[in-house]
Amino acid sequence: MHLSLPLLGLAAQAGLSLAAPAPTLGNLDFPDPSITWDPQTSAWYAFATQGNGHNTQAAHSPSLHGPWTFLPHIDLLPVPGPWVDAVHPDIWAPDVRYLPATDSFVLYYSGLHAASPYHCIGTATAPNITGPYTAAAEPFACPLADGGAIDASGFVDEAARARYVVYKVDGSSKGAGGPCGNGDPPGLPTPIRLQQVDFRDGVTPVGEATVILDRDPAVDGPLIEAPSLVKANGTYVLFYSSHCYNVPEYDVKYATAKEITGPYKRQPELMGKASDTFELEATGGASSVAGGGTMVLHANCPAGRCMYQTDFAVEDGLVVIADGNTAWTVHHGAA
Ligand SMILES: *[C@@H]1O[C@H](CO)[C@@H](O)[C@H](O)[C@H]1NC(C)=O
Ligand SMILES: *[C@@H]1O[C@H](CO)[C@@H](O)[C@H](O)[C@H]1NC(C)=O
Repeated sequence: MHLSLPLLGLAAQAGLSLAAPAPTLGNLDFPDPSITWDPQTSAWYAFATQGNGHNTQAAHSPSLHGPWTFLPHIDLLPVPGPWVDAVHPDIWAPDVRYLPATDSFVLYYSGLHAASPYHCIGTATAPNITGPYTAAAEPFACPLADGGAIDASGFVDEAARARYVVYKVDGSSKGAGGPCGNGDPPGLPTPIRLQQVDFRDGVTPVGEATVILDRDPAVDGPLIEAPSLVKANGTYVLFYSSHCYNVPEYDVKYATAKEITGPYKRQPELMGKASDTFELEATGGASSVAGGGTMVLHANCPAGRCMYQTDFAVEDGLVVIADGNTAWTVHHGAA
């Protein structure tokens, strides 16, 4: 807990903060985390952006609420797809989903495209959750003319027996400059796309991708990114981050819809500098589990960006964050 002490003074002044959860892995850089249930071993896994000499990072927990243990020897993707830069693969934001039809797993990842300065999204598969995964030869989504694509996240709509992937078109990577390369005019769009995929294999596209949200420069700054979709109590909840990841304004926002294709209605900021929900700085990259209930996210810590976890519920169409995982507290968002 003492690791977050430098931030306490900031948040105490606002008076609305909830008790911040402790970093799940201590002071360990574990950015853009995702969380997955492994039905083969009845355990939870979390995965994160490259680090510790590996293309992906992994952690394990026997139950949903920890204790989490870092797995320093696990790399899901030692060999990325052949379209990825071999010298600097730059693998970000891994997201793993279980495929019941084949009792296997699919990994969505972002990698640096070998023939451009942009990232694209790749897929890989494995018979068990820790892999190593076998990468598909071609990228899953690679709109190079628009700046590439990053931050893929899977979603299953159980009632409709339909599977989707949401991701960010990385327009900010080819912006004119400023924060995250896209703060200066004119500023390029960074749309969140929804792509239906084959229910069984998780990778074959079904129809065209549609845009379900895009940045509003007035409230989002240079970008929106890190989409994660859940459905809880009849509401589709699209979590996303806005502003540049390396400034204190990086945040967790969400938008809600009654249909998966939208329209998505923006709701007040969930976690971040404006809402000051937790005594944390630059919270972002939130990712939840099917059906909701808990989420992992990262926030600044001495080592970089540590993984935190908080429970939440969707009540009356709005996300309610749990205070320190013990009691439900109504979230007071920024207006
Ligand atoms: C998981 O699958 C990989 C093949 O992708 C295999 O090499 C490895 O031994 C398996 N691990 C376990 C624990 O079954
Ligand atoms: C659904 O709503 C009920 C009643 O408001 C609440 O107790 C429950 O936690 C909600 N479930 C989820 C997954 O948000």
